[in-house]
Amino acid sequence: MKEIVIKTNIRSCQMNELTPEEQELITIAKKQTENSYCPYSKFHVGAAAKLDNGVIIRGANQENAAYPSGLCAERSALFAAGAVYPDIPVNTLAIACFTEGHFTENPGAPCGSCRQVMLETEHRYGKPMKVILYGEKEIYIFDSAASLLPVGFFSEDLEG
Ligand code: THU
Repeated sequence: MKEIVIKTNIRSCQMNELTPEEQELITIAKKQTENSYCPYSKFHVGAAAKLDNGVIIRGANQENAAYPSGLCAERSALFAAGAVYPDIPVNTLAIACFTEGHFTENPGAPCGSCRQVMLETEHRYGKPMKVILYGEKEIYIFDSAASLLPVGFFSEDLEG
C-alpha cells in the first residue's frame, strides 16, 4: 500500500497586504452579508465574484423553511454568474460570514458542495479561480479552487 500525501497552498494575510481590487471584492462580500436571508441559522454569508470582464456578481445565502431547498452564498453568486455571463471566466471569488453581531474571526470555510461548484467553475473555463476567505483575524487566499478540494470530481470522471 502506498500513502499519498496531498499538499495544499493557502496564503494567510491581512487586508493591507491585498490589492485594491481584492480589498474592494472583500468589502462587497462583507456588504452582501446584509442581503442574506437566514432566519433559521442566523448565519449571514456574502459572496462577490469578479469576472474577467470586470463585472462583479453578488451572492448571499438564501434559506428556506424546507431546509435543503436553501442555497449557499458562493453558489448563488457562481450560478448567477454562469446564468448571465456563461462565456466569461470567474477570476476571483470573495466570501465573508457574519453572525452574532460581527464578522467571523476565522476565514469562513465553504461547504463541500460549494467547493465542488467552485472546482467545476474554474474547470469549465480552463483557468484558475482565486478564492478569498475573509476573517477578522486573518484572510485566506487560495490561488485556485482546486486547492480547496483535492481529489475532486470532474466531468471526465463521468466517462469512467
Ligand atoms: N453557508 C453558505 O452560504 N456558504 C457555505 O459555504 C457554508 C454555509 C450558509 C448555508 C446556511 O444558510 C448557513 O450558512 C448556515 O449553514
